[in-house]
Amino acid sequence: MTREIKLILLGAPGAGKGTQAEIISKDYGIPAISTGAIIREAVKNGTEMGLAAKEYIDSGALVPDSVVIGIIKERLAMPDCKGGFILDGFPRTVPQAAALDEMGVEITDVISIEVADERILERMGGRRVCKACGATYHVVFNPSPNGDKCACGEELTIRSDDKPEVVKSRLDTYHEQTEPLKDFYNAKGILKIVEGQEKLEDTTALTKAALEA
Ligand code: AP5
Ligand code: MG
Repeated sequence: MTREIKLILLGAPGAGKGTQAEIISKDYGIPAISTGAIIREAVKNGTEMGLAAKEYIDSGALVPDSVVIGIIKERLAMPDCKGGFILDGFPRTVPQAAALDEMGVEITDVISIEVADERILERMGGRRVCKACGATYHVVFNPSPNGDKCACGEELTIRSDDKPEVVKSRLDTYHEQTEPLKDFYNAKGILKIVEGQEKLEDTTALTKAALEA
């Protein structure tokens, strides 16, 4: 890939944004930025922001726009973002998207990974995440090469917001507040739709094809 990529990955919780962001990040040599991962790290470290964010995350609601916009402003100012980046989970509301525009960030591509709600519930039940390096697996669809431990050797855990009732509420939040962003970016002519596939490598192939088209 020779052109600069400033990519937003849209998609419901569990659509596979994080999984694809990790792969594309390695293949294209650009950082993947997950606001969810940054917030979870703050929760783990017990920072003021983390403590305030925890109740939103655990109920499946969105953290206030002002907080996540601040996080993204700081992160995009880091030198590794100069040559491009992947945003996984930001923006999630129209005001967040407007804030990116106001910052002068010129997004080149927006890819929405589409997966039906019923399949999402099935995927979330089997997700396992490494506490140390953040790698994501699925007990059936994407098992760790290291059994019940991460490839890096650390324990795998279940995310606190992966309980079925919280996943349902996250899906409602997505449909109400984030899905309208598809119209926002379609109007700018940079939205592409990728149908999430059974096999994650098939979704990767479609995502790369969308970027290279
Ligand atoms: P965040 O961490 O971003 O969560 P999310 O958007 O709900 O999405 P997930 O991380 O759950 O799913 P994913 O799409 O990354 O899927 P994954 O690749 O893991 O946000 C968490 C919370 O933080 C939010 O609820 C909110 O409170 C807060 N927050 C974050 N950003 C915010 C913002 N901008 N504004 C306000 N609040 C914000 O895949 C899921 C599972 O499926 C895995 O087990 C994976 O192995 C498996 N899988 C992936 N692809 C496939 C496939 N093709 N086939 C089968 N299985 C697959
Ligand atoms: Mg994720």
